[in-house]
Amino acid sequence: MSKLSLDRILQSQGFGSRKYCRELVSDGEVSIAGEVVDDYKLSIETDGLTFHIFEEDWEYREHVYIVLNKPANFECSRKPSHHPGVLTLLPEQFSWRDVQPVGRLDHDTTGMLLMSDDGPFIHAQSSPKRHIPKVYQATTAEPVSSELVNALLTGVQLHDEPAPLAAQWCRQLDTNQIEIVLEQGKYHQVKRMLAAAGNHCAALQRTAIGQLTLESLGLKEGEWSYLSAEQIALLVPSEI
Ligand code: URA
Repeated sequence: MSKLSLDRILQSQGFGSRKYCRELVSDGEVSIAGEVVDDYKLSIETDGLTFHIFEEDWEYREHVYIVLNKPANFECSRKPSHHPGVLTLLPEQFSWRDVQPVGRLDHDTTGMLLMSDDGPFIHAQSSPKRHIPKVYQATTAEPVSSELVNALLTGVQLHDEPAPLAAQWCRQLDTNQIEIVLEQGKYHQVKRMLAAAGNHCAALQRTAIGQLTLESLGLKEGEWSYLSAEQIALLVPSEI
């Protein structure tokens, strides 16, 4: 149980500066349980709180855990340079509360992207020590051969890595398509591994993280959803 004043609640949920949040409350923009609350100092229990603002109901969340089905031509970096940032696909409250991508996908990679404002969660999910597998479907420029799949499974040498990098799992899906599972998250890793194995990545989609699959989320490209506790529990290595 924890209580906060209404202006602090709104600020923590990304509605702007403390001053602006006080104005919103004083202007009668916020209601709770159908009643306008115009006293910003009012101390309110945050557990289970839903408030109404700008014609929408908002659930109070100490932190947000989000999954986005990232479309191509959006950048994950904080200061995007050539394409819009992925945060432009989410409500602006999430930028105010410093929601960030968990790791990065290239601007032309599509699929599952986790986002959060919970630092320890971001750190844990990105840590190579946790060995969380990431599953990708890669479309290749040249037809897939068994030599390609074997090379990716046994390991390929990337020029700035001390030792060869191997896929945790790899299989051919189609003439020009593979599924590849990586535990590490090195820069352009799938593309560089394919190039090192003598092919070229023409398109890339992330289809799963841990045991949580993109298919199970039912999100179209550009759509996002909050992650449930059950879904968060699936972001772990598989038991097999
Ligand atoms: N590997 C890549 O090459 N690009 C990505 O976006 C993710 C993994």
